[in-house]
Amino acid sequence: LFDSVPQAPRDPILGLNEQFNTDPRPHKVNLGVGVYYDAQGRMPLLPVVAQVEQDLADQSAARGYLPIDGIHNYNLGAQQLLLGSTSSPLTEQRAVTVQSLGGTGALKLGADFLQSLCPNATVAISNPSWENHRALFEKAGFTVVEYPYYDANTRGLDFEAMCSFLEQLPDQSIVVLHACCHNPTGIDPTAEQWQVLAELLVAKQHIPFMDIAYQGFGTGLAEDAAAVRLLAEQGIPMLVSSSFSKSFALYGERVGALTVITTDAAQSPRVLSQLKRLARTNYSNPPTHGAKIVSTVFGQPERFQQWTQELQHMRERIQSMRQQLVVKLKEHGVVQNMDFILQQKGMFSYSGLSQEQVHTLRDEDAIYILDTGRICVAALNAHNIDTVAAAIARVLR
Ligand code: LMR
Repeated sequence: LFDSVPQAPRDPILGLNEQFNTDPRPHKVNLGVGVYYDAQGRMPLLPVVAQVEQDLADQSAARGYLPIDGIHNYNLGAQQLLLGSTSSPLTEQRAVTVQSLGGTGALKLGADFLQSLCPNATVAISNPSWENHRALFEKAGFTVVEYPYYDANTRGLDFEAMCSFLEQLPDQSIVVLHACCHNPTGIDPTAEQWQVLAELLVAKQHIPFMDIAYQGFGTGLAEDAAAVRLLAEQGIPMLVSSSFSKSFALYGERVGALTVITTDAAQSPRVLSQLKRLARTNYSNPPTHGAKIVSTVFGQPERFQQWTQELQHMRERIQSMRQQLVVKLKEHGVVQNMDFILQQKGMFSYSGLSQEQVHTLRDEDAIYILDTGRICVAALNAHNIDTVAAAIARVLR
C-alpha cells in the first residue's frame, strides 16, 4: 500500500523550524517561524495567562467535551475583538463564529465550507503570501491564483496592479486578504486603499476571506481590525479567520476562530449548522484549555486590560528591534537604505535577501531565515542583534 507514497516536500516554515531544532551550533538564531520571543530570547508565558491558568488549576474542573462550535463566550469575545461591539453584523445577528484549531484551522473550516458552496470559484491569494495559504486552499479543492501585491522595486504595495488583477478575476471569486501585518511582507494597504478595495469587492461580488493572525501587533487591537470592520459593513458575505496564538502567546494551544458574516440573519443558524457538521466530521469538537484562558480574559475587564498592556509591550519591543536593526545594519557598513524595515508592520520584515544569501547565513552563521528572505523581527534581542546585523551586512556586500 505505501510503496508508492512519494516524499512530501518539507514545510517551508515549520520544516525549517525542525532543522533549526536539530542544529547543534550553540550560537544558532531562529528568525524563521512567526513566534514572539522576549528580550531574553525566551518564548514568554504571558503573566495574565499564567494567572488565569492558576485560577483554572485551583478550580480543578473536569474536562468534558466542548460544544462542537466551542466555548460560547470565547466565540462572542472573538467576534467583539474583531468587529467591535456596535457593528451591524453583530447587532443584526449576521456574524457566526466557531472556535477553531488556531488560525489555520479556521482557514481550513472556511475553505471546506466554501468548497461545498462554490467549488468552481477561483481563490486569489497575494503574491507573496503566507506559505500555507496556497496549499490549504488547493487541498480544499480550489484553483489558486496570485494577485500582485509586493513591488520589490519600491519595497511597497503595488496597489494598482493588485486592483486591476482583482477587477479582471471572474465575479464571485474568493479573495484572501491579510487584515493587518501582512505575512510575509509587513506591508498593509492604507485606510484609503482599503476603501477602494471594499468598493471593488462589492462591485465584483468577490468573497473576502480575511486572515487576521497578528491583531494587536501592528498599531493596536482596534486599529488592526479596521479593515475587517470596514468590509464587514459592506453587506457582503465574508469570512474571517482569527488567531490568538501570537497575541496570547498560546501557540501550541491552537486558539483560533472562524467568523462568517452572512447577509441576512435568517442564514446564520443554517451556516452555523454546516460549520458544526464540518467540525464534527473533522475533529469532533475543539480543545478546552487555551480557549478557557482566552475567554476568561475576555470576560474579566481587569484581566483584559492587563492583556492589552502585555500585548502592547510585545508590539513595542518589536518596533524597537526594527529601529535597532536599521541602526546596526548601518553600523556594520550596509550602504543600501534599509529604512523600509521601519515602515513594515507586525512580526516580519521582508528583507529582500536572496535565497542564496539566506542559505549562506544558515550554513555559515547558523542564522535561520525563510528562503523568501522573511525575517522574524520578534526573535531579535539585545544579545543576538549585533551578530545578526553583522552577518546580514556581510552577505549584502
Ligand atoms: C508563520 O508564518 O511563521 C506562522 O504563522 C507559523 C506558521 O504556522 O506558519
